Amino acid sequence: MSNIQKYKEFYKQSMENRDDFWQEQAKMIDWDTPFDSVLEYNNPPFAKWFHGGTLNLCQNAVDRHLADRGDQNAIVWVSTEEDKEVNITFAQLHKQVNEAAAVYKSLGVEKGDRILIYMPMIPQAVVAMLACVRIGAIHSVVFGGFAAHALASRIDDATPKVVVTADAGLRGGKTIAYQPLLDASYQQITITPPKVLLVNRGLAEGALGEGKYDWDEQMAKCAGQIVDPVMVESSHPSYILYTSGTTGTPKGVQRDTGGHAVAMRASMKHIYDLQPGETMFTGSDIGWVVGHSYIVYAPLLTGATTILYEGLPIRPDPGIWWSLIEKFKVSVMFTAPTAIRVLKKTGTDLINKYDLTSLRTLFLAGEPLDSETHRWISDALPGNVVDNYWQTETGWPILTNFAGIGLMENKFGSPTMPAYGFDVMLVDESTAEPVAANEKGSLMIKAPLPPGCMTTIWGDDKRFVETYFSRFGKEMYATFDYALRDEDGYYFIMGRDDDVINVAGHRLGTREIEEVLCKHSSVVEVAAVGVKDELKGQEVVAFVVSSDQTEAASESDLKALVSREIGAIARPKNIYMVSGLPKTRSGKVLRRAIRSMAEGEDPGDLPTIDDASVLESIIATIKKG
Ligand code: PRX
Repeated sequence: MSNIQKYKEFYKQSMENRDDFWQEQAKMIDWDTPFDSVLEYNNPPFAKWFHGGTLNLCQNAVDRHLADRGDQNAIVWVSTEEDKEVNITFAQLHKQVNEAAAVYKSLGVEKGDRILIYMPMIPQAVVAMLACVRIGAIHSVVFGGFAAHALASRIDDATPKVVVTADAGLRGGKTIAYQPLLDASYQQITITPPKVLLVNRGLAEGALGEGKYDWDEQMAKCAGQIVDPVMVESSHPSYILYTSGTTGTPKGVQRDTGGHAVAMRASMKHIYDLQPGETMFTGSDIGWVVGHSYIVYAPLLTGATTILYEGLPIRPDPGIWWSLIEKFKVSVMFTAPTAIRVLKKTGTDLINKYDLTSLRTLFLAGEPLDSETHRWISDALPGNVVDNYWQTETGWPILTNFAGIGLMENKFGSPTMPAYGFDVMLVDESTAEPVAANEKGSLMIKAPLPPGCMTTIWGDDKRFVETYFSRFGKEMYATFDYALRDEDGYYFIMGRDDDVINVAGHRLGTREIEEVLCKHSSVVEVAAVGVKDELKGQEVVAFVVSSDQTEAASESDLKALVSREIGAIARPKNIYMVSGLPKTRSGKVLRRAIRSMAEGEDPGDLPTIDDASVLESIIATIKKG
């Protein structure tokens, strides 16, 4: 059978014999109580996978490997920022998560409580996550590159009992002190300030005071303690991960426990093809979904070794990642296309310098992988390169090629075909009718979503249904991406249809940026858009209308405001001061026209525009630079 036939057969099983298919996958996970039904779906679109089963995620990721793999590395931490390397075996990880779980308990954390983790890429961050799920608490990791306002809105929404943080992160040799950012966010929150557990790396001031506890001190107090994993229902939330959408308020993507565990473990087998005992290197951050899934949960659930990397891909030189592959005999690597585009600039010498024969497959996801970069890296590496498309919401690939089934031929520019369990549909944006081959349509997924996908928005079931299942009824989940499918069944992603943008693989909402800019007293109105960038995929550009009453803010003040409140990744590349924004007669900002102009294109025909004269003034401002 050819690989494409094998794939089609496998995919068909997942659609036609859904329950048997997932029953089989669920065998790769340890259950404390077996589930009664594979899927309970009596309240669409809320899917309860493996209903009635109980399990513990940490027990599955750590404890169950102790007998056979106690001395195997679970985590290899490499920091090119601190010039350090630390190996942590499964036995050591077990000890650390037990102690951290004991610390949480001593701070009053119970099953169902939230713990917010605002940490750099250090092993304590992974320990903090696993210790959380060990006691049935729910973690919410906030990307260490986010700043005060972004942090505060997430703290307010998740209402955590404890915030786990560090004195500082490091990036490109620069120290980023976290405490001033956390303090600034505590000025903005409206809830009772959560307790703080602080990992002191000795990099910056980290004053301990009322409600603040030192990680090492607390761990020492709990040394040697064993905390039995709390068995939770399959649908019990394992974590919340905030992501951007159309409004300024981030959405807490909530993931269950049983479906998540099964999906992660199964994806290692069928998609990534990583065997227990092998090593995976995911160049991402634990603050993003790729980090949750493929730095932490999937490799550890598989009994594989995961490399946790703190640093840039180009320091001390752009060969650093390839050197790690050689040194640790990495079998599977995962990162974002931007990283490869950055490395591409330096050519192939630094790739050829290392023995990369252990690397079977490099997976790339998070933003469009342009054909040119896909071709370049495929030629440069001895192994395969796979583009896969998915979202924070799904937690694992929607469209991909399958190393575990047998790779099908790659088409550059295409993330190949739907993953088992995903009933993908391409429909006309206005009629919901399926589109023909090679025609652009909205990418939808027929409900129920498979195991591992978001189960709701934290604390807001209504928003979950209204956001994702309202376009064409509760039967269809909207991805907010356009796509087309060619005559061979290969999919091509054609970009988002909402205000979500993607800067260097980092998902950002333009509304959140606009809200922060509007905080400045001189700003009356703002439109932030994503414009094409060769390296980063997209960059932020903002158009600002200032008040006549106050002194206008400078461009650099406004850029600094965004860095301070959201983080450097959201800092606009350009800010243009304009006299007005193009709007419809009903007052809706014509964002698409603004984006076209920012990209140097004609805004096109705008029959609904209220005052066309603002267009000329915007074009003139952009031209001036
Ligand atoms: O627009 C799609 C784009 O990134 C969005 C999801 O981003 P995030 O929630 O951060 O999850 C990333 C998980 C890998 C999608 O809606 N996107 C993701 N992967 C691809 C992609 N666009 C094109 N090709 C991809 N492979």
